[in-house]
Amino acid sequence: MHIVGARPNFMKIAPLVKAIKEHNQTGIFPHLDQIIVHTGQHYDEKMSELFFDHLGLPKPDINLEVGSASHAVQTAEIMIRFERVLLQYQPDAIIVVGDVNSTIACTLVASKIQYPASNLRLATCNSKRRRPLIVHVEAGLRSFDRTMPEEINRILTDQLSDLLFTTEEDANENLKREGISSEKIFFVGNVMIDTLFQHLEKAKKSDILNRLGLINQRLRTSDQGLSTRDYALSTPYAVLTLHRPSNVDHKETFLNILEALKEISKKIPIIFPAHPRTQNRIKQFHLDQYFKRFSTSNLQLATCNSGIYCIEPLGYLDFLWLMANAKLVLTDSGGIQEETTVLGVSCVTIRENTERPITVKMGTNIVAGTKKENIINTALSQLNKLNQRKWTCNLSTCQLATAFWDGQAAKRIVDILVEKLST
Ligand code: UD1
Repeated sequence: MHIVGARPNFMKIAPLVKAIKEHNQTGIFPHLDQIIVHTGQHYDEKMSELFFDHLGLPKPDINLEVGSASHAVQTAEIMIRFERVLLQYQPDAIIVVGDVNSTIACTLVASKIQYPASNLRLATCNSKRRRPLIVHVEAGLRSFDRTMPEEINRILTDQLSDLLFTTEEDANENLKREGISSEKIFFVGNVMIDTLFQHLEKAKKSDILNRLGLINQRLRTSDQGLSTRDYALSTPYAVLTLHRPSNVDHKETFLNILEALKEISKKIPIIFPAHPRTQNRIKQFHLDQYFKRFSTSNLQLATCNSGIYCIEPLGYLDFLWLMANAKLVLTDSGGIQEETTVLGVSCVTIRENTERPITVKMGTNIVAGTKKENIINTALSQLNKLNQRKWTCNLSTCQLATAFWDGQAAKRIVDILVEKLST
């Protein structure tokens, strides 16, 4: 049983669903039935449904439809509704990913559930356990900042999980330091990067650059007299994502970041697909004057060279292609730090810390903090380095691939899962 709830979860389960399907096609025992449970933490079409379409994910079998609420209410509602589902379906394993409220809520329920003794099967039957195996994918990441709700979710989920799959070596060390037995920890690589590799070709067909007016088209005539269209990026641009509560929920902090972005946007236009949380805060704090608002169909960036262009959240393929062609990415997201590393795009993280230190070691990511001057200086120095072609990686791409960011992480996970479920 796969658990998804919020936007970053969809990219993480997609390759797992695919790898399990491929396992089943081999006919190797055991055949694994899959059920997808969507908690409904994210519910807007642009935050959820679109991702199922773009990632080729089957529609969720069950939707708990919890929606937005305070952390306590949202977590509790997921727990209440998920307990019923767990008792009805009695899966042998639940797979939770990442660090969102849905991850910890379902883990907590699964860790205490008792299946009725009369109806035990497979793995649950073979052990004394009368509950599903709890499988945490993307375990062990730590920002060491317990003011982040995600950090609490990570620590607690890891403590309760039976199998912990990690994306980088620092994560293994973090888990061991917290007393988790190394027998439970498996360094397998990054499923989100599996998704990136699986969808990059499709993303290249996205018309997002066209829709944003970022492309110049020229007609060319070949030696054979055939006309072809030539596409070239007309304007270098930066991409921004910003939604961490610590950055956008307090007016003063948010203003300070916006002042920094305003300065940066004088040098390079910033395209900002805004998360609903951030859109709400912009309205609530009356900060509209910082943004030029556009829909993706009427933005003609080719003629603009400054400003912050606020657009609706994008689907996976559009966002991937926009990010891949950006000169610079400014973000407070975790996953985007990893995706820019693989794409070789310069990233400035607007946070005081990162739980993904490999992205900094690789040289693509710089953690700028949240002070105005630091954000400006870091972003402008990144842009300068890019202009002078001075940008260098501290590690090689080859080292990243040997860290299992090679598109095969889901297969490794499924191989281990199959072994555990058949013993
Ligand atoms: C959640 C995750 C965060 C992840 C982010 C990705 C937790 C604690 N946080 O944060 O780690 O990076 O998702 O997007 O789980 N809203 C909508 N429509 C939606 C979803 C949200 O309008 O489809 C608005 C609501 O006003 C809601 C707010 O966004 O109150 C926050 O949503 P919530 O799911 O609580 O947390 P995120 O900030 O999205």
